[in-house]
This record gives sequence, C-alpha cells and structure tokens, in this order.
Amino acid sequence: MKFLVANWKMNGDVEFAESFFEKINSIKTENQIVVCPPFPLLYKFKNFSHSLGAQNCSDRKNGAFTGEVSPLLLQNLGCKYVIIGHSERRRIFKESNELIFEKYKTLTELGINPIICVGETEESRPQWRDILSIQLSKFKEDANLSKAIIAYEPVWSIGSGKTPTTSEIHEVLSFIKQTTNSKCPTLYGGSVNIKNISDILQIPSVDGVLIGGASLRIEEFSEMIQCIVC
Ligand code: 13P
Repeated sequence: MKFLVANWKMNGDVEFAESFFEKINSIKTENQIVVCPPFPLLYKFKNFSHSLGAQNCSDRKNGAFTGEVSPLLLQNLGCKYVIIGHSERRRIFKESNELIFEKYKTLTELGINPIICVGETEESRPQWRDILSIQLSKFKEDANLSKAIIAYEPVWSIGSGKTPTTSEIHEVLSFIKQTTNSKCPTLYGGSVNIKNISDILQIPSVDGVLIGGASLRIEEFSEMIQCIVC
C-alpha cells in the first residue's frame, strides 16, 4: 500500500471539485488516496470513497481566532489527514517549527493524522541533514509520532520540474526513517508526475508521494492512481 496525497494548494473551484470527485471517486485501489482541497471545497467530498485531508489548520481547537480553521471542524467535515509545515507555510507565512509542533499536538490529540512536511532550500541543499534534523527535532521523541506521516519536499523541487535522483531520495528518506526510528511512513513530494511516479514509488524507503500541480490535472491524476494499481 502506498499513499498518494493530492495537495491542490490555492487552486480549484466548485466546478473543478465536482469533476474531480466524479472521476476519482469510482476508482478502486488498494492504495491510500488522500485529497486535500482548499477549505471551502471540503464539503464537496461528502461520502468520498477515498480519504480527505486539509492543507493546514489552527493549533487551537476553537475560540476567538479570526480567520483560522479549527481541526475539530476539519474532523467534522471528514478530514482524516492535515498537511502541516508545508514549505509555502514556513516561507511565505513564517510558520515556525514550534507552531508546527503545536498543530501536530492538537491534531494527534484529536486522532487526526498530521502529514508533516520537511525539506531544504536550494541554498541549504549541502546542509540538508542539519536542516532536516532541526525540522524533526521536536517530533522524533514524541510518543504519538506513529500517527503521523513525514513528507520530504525539497523546496527547490516544488513546482520546478526538477527532482532529486532516486538514490538521493532514498538517502534522505532513509535518514528520516533512522532519525524517527521508522515510526511513521515517509513520502516524497516535488514535481511528481505521470512520467516519474513509478520510478519514485519503487524506491524502497518511499511509502508514497505528495503531489501538487499534477493532482490538478484530473486525467493525469487518475492515471497516476491506476498506474500504481498495476
Ligand atoms: P508540485 O508537485 O507542484 O511540485 O508540488 C509539490 C508540493 O508542494 C506538494 O505539497
């Protein structure tokens, strides 16, 4: 069983969600498909045959936090997974490792599975071990880590069409498994598409993929699901 997580980011509308649902809902697979649309489209995935996830959440359960989205509400809407610490949240919205860990604690307490994103920038590529060690430091000893998934997304690969080699991906994911005592599944994300998905999924340390752009191309995404079936 492999994970295929679709992160739509800030894309899609009601019509797109309907077309996506119609095409993907009927596909049967042994693998775990997780679709993460923008918050206002989550309601479109009622009775979805695959899993639903969100792209972010508040670290609080509810209260006076204008504009934030409660993990309790996400659970109420059927989300079993929430992506946290995506590099776009870290870089553009200045989210810290501390805040990401608070979100993780709230999610695991509620029984929602966090998908924790880690990864180095282009400039810090030579120091990827140090960067990942810092990003993982709070999580690695935590008793609830087995409820989480860790996604390695090198920032330089996101949306660029560039990917690390299969041996580089294996090296980094093995490092993550070693750091976390293999407590949770490890995913690769960054420019995954129909052409490279099978090579990536064949890497022994890869338990699945996190897909951005290609998950918005409904035909391609549906082929990606079917391609890992066979
Ligand atoms: P792309 O697949 O568009 O490179 O995005 C990857 C990503 O950021 C998924 O979270």
